[in-house]
Amino acid sequence: MCGIIGYVGQADSERPLEVAREALARLQYRGYDSAGVVVANSRGLHHVKKAGKLSVLEEALAATPLPPATAVIGHTRWATHGGPTDRNAHPHLSADGSVAVVHNGILENHQALREELASAGVEFLSETDTEVAAHLLARAYDGLGDLPEAMRAVARRLEGAFTLLAVAADNPHLVVGARRTSPLVVGLGEGENFLGSDVAAFVARTNRALELGEDQVVAITATGVMVTDFDGQAVEPREFTVDWDASAAVKGGFATFMEKEIHDQPQAVRDTLLGRMTPSGRMRLDELRVEESLLRSVDKIVVIACGTAAYAGHVAKYAIEHWCRIPVEVELAHEFRYRDPVVNAKMLVVAISQSGETMDTIMAIRHAREQGAKVLAVVNTMGSTIARESDAALYTHAGPEVAVASTKAFLAQITATYLLGLYLAQLRGTMFPDEVRSILRELEQMPAKVQRVIDGEAAIKALAVQMKDTSSVLFLGRHVGYPVAMEGALKLKELAYIHAEGFAAGELKHGPIALIDQGQAVFVVVPSPKGRDVLHDKVLSNIQEVRARGARTLVVAEEGDDAVAQHADTVFWVPQTPTLLAPLVAVVPLQIFACALATAKGLDVDQPRNLAKSVTVE
Ligand code: M6R
Repeated sequence: MCGIIGYVGQADSERPLEVAREALARLQYRGYDSAGVVVANSRGLHHVKKAGKLSVLEEALAATPLPPATAVIGHTRWATHGGPTDRNAHPHLSADGSVAVVHNGILENHQALREELASAGVEFLSETDTEVAAHLLARAYDGLGDLPEAMRAVARRLEGAFTLLAVAADNPHLVVGARRTSPLVVGLGEGENFLGSDVAAFVARTNRALELGEDQVVAITATGVMVTDFDGQAVEPREFTVDWDASAAVKGGFATFMEKEIHDQPQAVRDTLLGRMTPSGRMRLDELRVEESLLRSVDKIVVIACGTAAYAGHVAKYAIEHWCRIPVEVELAHEFRYRDPVVNAKMLVVAISQSGETMDTIMAIRHAREQGAKVLAVVNTMGSTIARESDAALYTHAGPEVAVASTKAFLAQITATYLLGLYLAQLRGTMFPDEVRSILRELEQMPAKVQRVIDGEAAIKALAVQMKDTSSVLFLGRHVGYPVAMEGALKLKELAYIHAEGFAAGELKHGPIALIDQGQAVFVVVPSPKGRDVLHDKVLSNIQEVRARGARTLVVAEEGDDAVAQHADTVFWVPQTPTLLAPLVAVVPLQIFACALATAKGLDVDQPRNLAKSVTVE
């Protein structure tokens, strides 16, 4: 779960270091417990690496500037093997200093390789799995005299998941990369080329990119890119254009990415909806390359995802089952993968992921495809592993999400899965065309409604500041409000480090109500009174039940719901919305609350402790 950048330009300059610093800043969401860079020029390799956030590396670079160079590799780390220390930070150099490597992933056979190298007299300086790759590469390079060939030889010996980048002291015009399972993309510049964990690394410099496949080695110079498989057979990579606006990845006047991304949400929903209706009023999902006959005949949908993306899947289940009358199961990808699930060609697997690099989801996708199921990815990152390895990809157009805690990707994922549901309903004839159109029109109003909730953020922030010493918050919801409650709790856990749980409100009396004590804060997501009256009334009863036992009730309810106010200590009003679409507005106050409370506690909301944005190891 680390971020990697590689770059080669034409002549010695400050540019390689500038490129690396900018890329590492953008890639910090992949890990941020240490960082390092190594530049290459005709005088060899020069490196700096430091434990701590990127600012610590920046200070070290200011104190000891690196010389002008032609090439660079850089790394921002999320520790797996060996704690976050200067010695364990990347790059790792071979004992003779001839090569330097950076690595993302886990080398599963590192212990055996370490013992082999140690018995040959190699002394290790770090506790990382990565260091074996540096020593192996130096030895292979010494024997073969060709860095790509040496990288292929090393890659064939490694087990596990890895992206490796390497640069050699005697060739400052070449950076070589290898990938198995972990991500790596190429950026094509004019007289310069880039390698990055994802396109965010170089999107400010070029929007031309190449996808790399499994078990491939890439060599970049200032003017060329050569890709082969691990056996040296040439491979023709697919070029794609990155349509992200680079400015979307900077804070745009907000104090944090998290705040910016909460404010980006109306646009994320709008962009995800763009271009989905033909002039004749029929829905189209152009990028969906699964045969219509399969979409018509599938008898079950299984959604696989992790974290927030899984909660988006739970919301999708309510909508897709209602609109399409297809059973939908939602399962955490890591549970799906290792429980021997019944999978067959009659089911459609929908994998939801912002990063497209979540290893648990990738493994589940591979398993489902091996068992004969088609996989449709709902994914935000173009060129990502999940987009590439699935049979089809439906893109959420949320733009780059940098804050570790997901916000705008969640709304975009929900929106995209609604589109999928409506498309299936149209195709399978479970809804009339005018019904589909009417829901699409409702969806088109959602960006403005989300904006209205954001416009009312001051009251939510004030409450959050007042509650900054709270140690436990519960969240209740029914129907689509249930995944919203779980997402609200997750946001509070990960941002504010507060114990928080989301429950199905109906489950309250089966246990969780025992937690209610005087002053216990309970958020309740109330369904629309106009949707399914029975649900609304039941949730009002749940509010009264917890209030009678001393709870402080903080209620998210629809404007005009006159019955609610008398039962709530505080109400956050959201615009009137059809029940199935309500999560798009109901979750926003919970995101704002978690962000503001964490900020009031003085915490880093963009980079919460122990987390990485992209969980690229299982
Ligand atoms: O990139 P993905 O959508 O696959 O990531 C899935 C989860 O790791 C992610 O949603 C995680 O739960 C976030 N920290 C939530 O804020």
